[in-house]
Amino acid sequence: MAEAPSRSKNSGREPVPLAVWPVGQVSAQYQRAGRYHPGSAAHPGKMLPELARRIIAEYSAPGALVVDPMAGIGTTLVEAAALGRRTVVIELEHRCVALARENLGHALTSEQRRTARVRRGDARRLPALLGGMAGTVDLVVVSPPYACDAGVIDKPAWRSGRRLCDAGTLNYSRDRSNLGHARGQAYALAMEDVYAGCFAVLRPGGLLVTVTKTTRRAGRLFDLAGTTVNLARGAGFIYLQHVVALLAAIRDGELRARPSFWQLTQTRRARARGEPAHVVVHEDVCVFEKPGVG
Ligand SMILES: C[S@@+](CC[C@H](N)C(=O)[O-])C[C@H]1O[C@@H](n2cnc3c(N)ncnc32)[C@H](O)[C@@H]1O
Repeated sequence: MAEAPSRSKNSGREPVPLAVWPVGQVSAQYQRAGRYHPGSAAHPGKMLPELARRIIAEYSAPGALVVDPMAGIGTTLVEAAALGRRTVVIELEHRCVALARENLGHALTSEQRRTARVRRGDARRLPALLGGMAGTVDLVVVSPPYACDAGVIDKPAWRSGRRLCDAGTLNYSRDRSNLGHARGQAYALAMEDVYAGCFAVLRPGGLLVTVTKTTRRAGRLFDLAGTTVNLARGAGFIYLQHVVALLAAIRDGELRARPSFWQLTQTRRARARGEPAHVVVHEDVCVFEKPGVG
C-alpha cells in the first residue's frame, strides 16, 4: 500500500498533491479479456480494471471493506475481491446487478468470491443498504454518471443512417431515477445525498475515491471533478489528492489516444459545428478522507 498523502487538515487553501497514473497502456478490451463476461460490453460507462486495481491497492489494505454505491458491471467488486478485500457493491439497474454477479463468478476463485456481495438499490440509500456495516467501511470507490448522454453504440444501425445509440440505452436506462438522467442542479442535489451516505458509512479516517471525466455539453466543458470536490467537501470530506488517470497509452514519450467510437464521433461532430473539441484522454481520480482520527 502506498504512503497515504499528507493528512494535514486540508482546509481548501493548500494545493492538493497531484499524481499521474498510466492505466491505459493496454486497451480496455485486453484488460477485460477472459476476466469479465463478454456481456459487459453493453455497459456504456465502465471503469478500466487497471484503474480500479490501482485505486484499491493504493488506498486500502488486504482485508479492508471496500464499497461501490454505483457499481455498473462490478469492476470495483471484481478487482477488490481479486486483491483480497471484502466488498459490497450497490447498483440500481437489475441488468447491471446480474452482470456484476456474472463477473464475480467469471474468473475468480470461490475463496475470492466468498466475501463479495452485490445488492440492488439506490445509492442515495447507502447507509440503509449496508445495514450493520455502516460506519465500518474503509474505502468507498464511486464512479458516478457523468451527466452526459452515454449510450450503447450500435454501429450497424449508424451505418444504415439510424441513431448511433438507441434512445432506450441512453443514460443507462429509461428509468428516470437512474442518475444518468440528472443534469445541473438535479444532478448536484442527488449526488449530495450519495456523498452524504458515503460519509456516513465510512469509518473515521476512511477514504472516498471518485472517478469522473470532463465532458462537453453544447460546446462547453463541464468540469465534473470540480463539482465533485465541492460536493464531497460539502458532505464533510477533506480533499487529499488528485490523480490524473491516463486512458491514453504512452508510446515513445508521446500520448497515443484510445478514443472509443462514441468519443471520436462526438468530437468530429463538435468540430464540424466549429467547436474546438479534443478527445479527452484522462479521468480525474479525487481522494477524500473522512476526518476523525489523530
Ligand atoms: C459510470 S457508471 C459506473 C461504472 C462502474 N464503475 C463500472 O466499472 O462498471 C454509473 C452507474 O451508476 C448507476 N446508477 C445510476 N443511478 C443510480 C442510483 N440512484 N443508485 C445506484 N446506481 C445508480 C448506473 O446505472 C451506472 O451503472
